[in-house]
Parts: sequence; C-alpha cells; structure tokens
Amino acid sequence: MTNGSTGADKARPVLVTGGAGFIGANFVLDWCATEISPVVTLDELTYAGNLDNLTGLNSHPRHSFVRGDIGDADLVASLLARHKPRAIINFAAESHVDRSIHGPENFITTNILGTFRLLECARAYWLDLPAEERGSFRFLHVSTDEVYGTLTPTCAPFNETNRYMPNSPYSASKAASDHLVRAWHHTYGLPTLITNCSNNYGPYQFPEKLIPLVIDRAFNGQPLPIYGDGQQVRDWLYVGDHCSAIRRVLAVSAPGETYNIGGNNEKTNIEVVKTICTRLDGLKPRTDGRSYSEQITFVKDRPGHDRRYAINADKIRRELDWSPSETFESGIAKTVDWYLNNSDWIANVTSGAYRRWIEKQYA
Ligand code: NAD
Ligand code: DAU
Repeated sequence: MTNGSTGADKARPVLVTGGAGFIGANFVLDWCATEISPVVTLDELTYAGNLDNLTGLNSHPRHSFVRGDIGDADLVASLLARHKPRAIINFAAESHVDRSIHGPENFITTNILGTFRLLECARAYWLDLPAEERGSFRFLHVSTDEVYGTLTPTCAPFNETNRYMPNSPYSASKAASDHLVRAWHHTYGLPTLITNCSNNYGPYQFPEKLIPLVIDRAFNGQPLPIYGDGQQVRDWLYVGDHCSAIRRVLAVSAPGETYNIGGNNEKTNIEVVKTICTRLDGLKPRTDGRSYSEQITFVKDRPGHDRRYAINADKIRRELDWSPSETFESGIAKTVDWYLNNSDWIANVTSGAYRRWIEKQYA
C-alpha cells in the first residue's frame, strides 16, 4: 500500500510543527537522517521548545527553521505558499498534564484554536494544489492515548474504536483537536491522518515529565516525587519507535485513517522509577554508596489522575507492518545514558523559569 506519492513528490518538503520540542525534534532529526524530502520546522519556542534540540542540523542543506505560532494564519499561509509542502505533521501543542491543571487556557488556545487555524490554512492551500499533488497531500495530526480516558487494571487496552472520554484539561483539548481533524476530513475531504500514541521517553524530553525529571533530580540529590501510591500504569514507547511509526503512517495510509501507536510496555510508575535508580546505581553510584531509590518520596496525587493507559497496536502492526523495536529495558538504558552524557543540555533547560515551575508544583 502507498499513498500515491511519486519520486517527484519526495523532493517536495514536509512542514513539521512543534519540531523543536521533544518528539518533534526527534522526528526532524530522524527524518533528515533517513528521508530525502526537505523539512521546514515551525515552532513558537515556548518553554518546551528548544533550538538546542536541533543543533545537529545547523547548516543542514535540507532543513530550515521558522519561529512562529500555528495559530498565526497569515504566517502559516505564507509558509505554505512559499514552501509548497507535500505534508504537514502537527506536533505543536501544550503537552504537560500538570500544567494544564494549573492553567488550562494555553491548552485551549494552542491545542484547539491553533489546530483549527492550521487546518483552515491547510484546507485553503490543499484546494489550490494541482490535482496530482492534491491527491498525495497529507495532514498528519499527532495525538495521544489520553483522549480515551482511563482503564481499570483488567480492561482491554485502548483500540481505535474506543470512546473518547478525556479526563484532564490537556486530554480534553487534544480530544477536541482530534474531532476537528476528523471533521475537516469528513466535511471538506482534507486528507488527514491521526495517530494516538502512549507515553514517549528518550533523548531531549523536557525534565517536567516523569522519566527525565527523575534522572535529573537523582543526580542532584533531590527527592524523587511519586504521585499517590505510584501504582498508575503507563505504556512506554521509545521516541525513536514513535518516529518510525509516524513515517510509516505518512508513507502508506489512506486519508481519514487513525492509528494507535504503543510500546507494549505497561509499567507502574514505581517500577519505572526503581528501574532508573538501579541503572544509575550501576553507572554513577552515589558517593555515600547507597541506592538512588532512597530518594523516592510519595507526594500528593495529581487531581483526576488517570489510573492506567495501555495501547492495543494490532491495527498498525496488521495493516502497516509496524511494531516497536525497543523493549523498555533497551530504551530506558539508552535514555539514562543519553542524559548522563548530555548534562549541559539539562543544565541549559533547567533555567529560572523551570525552577519556578518545580517550586510551584512540588512545594
Ligand atoms: P513538547 O511539549 O516537548 O513540545 C511541544 C512543542 O510545540 C514545543 O517545541 C513548543 O515550542 C511547540 N509549540 C507549542 N505551542 C505552539 C504553537 N502555538 N505554535 C507552534 N509551536 C508550538 O511536546 P512533546 O512531548 O514533544 O509532544 C508532541 C506532540 O505529541 C503533542 O501534540 C503531544 O500532545 C503529543 N503526544 C506526546 C506524548 C508524550 O509522551 N510526550 C504522547 C502522546 C502524544
Ligand atoms: O499518554 C500520553 C501522554 O503521556 C501524553 O499525551 C502527554 O503529553 C505526556 O506528558 C504524558 O502524560 P503523563 O501525564 O502520563 O506523563 P508524565 O510524565 O507527566 O507522568 C507519567 C506518570 O508519572 C503519571 O502517572 C504521573 C506520574 N508522575 C509524574 C510526575 C511529573 C509522578 O508520579 N511524579 C511526577 O513528578
């Protein structure tokens, strides 16, 4: 199966939004290493966006970066007219659940209104394309498993037909954006794709999220905060596997399709944190000879905390022949090693603004 792209199409660029964030940057780096199409990265560079993530592409002949908001219709329209991309891959979002609880408005603005504006610009651009380019154009929207709500320990994992039941301001805003994307396909025929993936981990993840937060705090001798009883379950997906899945969906899927992407790695939060501590004990033992796990501290639970996420990724395996290549053990080893070897990157992102967030969240 292919989406009808030709060799000539492949010479046309793709527009990646949110490409200076965690998953977007991994995607852009992997894309430039594996594909021939040029990439235009559009990113507003919020607190979560970081040009250091893309330094590997400085002076890369097929990459260009534009700072801007997906909700800025004039800017997006001018970028589409100038670069004539064959696809838009939308990673841009406010992505942190805890921040959405403290202040939901940015989530509504970017995740809902921003996606709406991006869709409208994409539709106008797509309608003006010559027929053969219109046929192969794709708008791929990157979404989350959190739109399905929460599972009990015995429920079957989420598949693509599960009802949307988002529980946090973040997941509600992502669910709303998915509905807009779906409607733009159904009503206007815009060739959209939606991917719903589980928790990513790997290099360049901002240390507000569990895994990099724990690694950073372990090094600094700080408490490792576990919300509630630590028995919440997430299905961990190595970011490189997520990127390969998106490339596959983009290359071969029919418009209007949705795919769940997961890592087949259900773990409780306490298991994840203990695994990290064990790896650090081996690689960089504490000077007092004790285990990093002694820094684990149970703290107040997240309001409305979803108990369990798990992805049934049978559809993407069956239809697109994709499955993850990393186990949790191999992925977490690579991840811990990356943070150990990139202490400058962590030092740069844990700036004054980051410290203010940590004080507010963990006070
Ligand atoms: P992130 O917060 O690390 O990065 C988001 C990026 O978007 C940042 O570079 C930021 O500057 C940019 N951005 C924010 N608002 C923007 C705007 N209005 N215009 C342009 N750029 C803007 O997020 P991430 O973890 O890389 O997640 C990327 C996408 O994947 C998001 O849509 C998220 O909902 C989804 N997702 C993430 C995970 C995960 O585990 N991290 C899992 C499932 C889905
Ligand atoms: O499931 C996909 C989602 O995964 C994405 O859509 C989100 O963008 C992404 O942030 C992530 O959401 P989570 O809320 O699951 O990720 P987070 O890293 O914030 O938390 C993972 C689990 O760890 C969750 O159960 C909350 C818990 N946790 C988190 C932090 C930051 C703690 O126990 N302590 C902490 O300090």
